[in-house]
Amino acid sequence: MNATVKRLVITIDGPAGSGKSTTARHVARRLGYLHLDSGALYRAVTLAALEREIDLQDERALAHIAQGVHIALEPAENGLIVRLDGKEVTQTIRMPDVSRAIGPVAANPGVRAALLKQQRTMGEKGGIVAEGRDMGTVVFPLADLKIFLVASIEARARRRMQELTRKGIHLDAEVLAQEIRKRDADDSQRNVSPLRKPDDCVEIDTTELTIPQQVALIVRKAIAQGAREV
Ligand code: DC
Repeated sequence: MNATVKRLVITIDGPAGSGKSTTARHVARRLGYLHLDSGALYRAVTLAALEREIDLQDERALAHIAQGVHIALEPAENGLIVRLDGKEVTQTIRMPDVSRAIGPVAANPGVRAALLKQQRTMGEKGGIVAEGRDMGTVVFPLADLKIFLVASIEARARRRMQELTRKGIHLDAEVLAQEIRKRDADDSQRNVSPLRKPDDCVEIDTTELTIPQQVALIVRKAIAQGAREV
């Protein structure tokens, strides 16, 4: 009767705009797990570098920033609140300037090493939904459940446009599609921790799925592995 409830490590990887963040947030909420948005960590380091006017090609200076900043992810009703050295940066880290500058930050081995430590600490007790690019391949290679989300470029550009429009930012769908193609190339071609599908993952194409459908699918798989809804 009282089968042990497991606190799983669930990873959700995939390209920009595949629906990882929203899906991870809902899955985490339904299971009572921590939501680790690793992209927010890379974004926060990028913002810190831009604010300090660091040359993004200066590898050592960037790594130094990543080691020195304190980034907190606090769960709230509408998603995570992100703090950089105590200051709320939830919206600022999503601005196009930060997205455009992120390439060299995410490709920096020193930055990745500093953030790896923080991510593993968050997951050491299980009960976590970790989303990003290298969650199942590098950060949590022994995760209990690995999901890889994909979607067409058009669907991803449309979602991104809707998200920005809600914030009052208007960009053309074709411009966004170009940016997504560039980020796909950056993410999958960099030398350290490139975006790669884990061998032992479940791939879900979200082009035709709604968020509730993809959340339900993942929660079902987690329950099959011993998790329980709260
Ligand atoms: O998921 P996102 O779009 O917020 O991620 C922002 C950038 O951070 C993305 O272009 C690639 C990088 N990133 C990464 O290199 N590794 C991760 N685990 C998560 C994000």
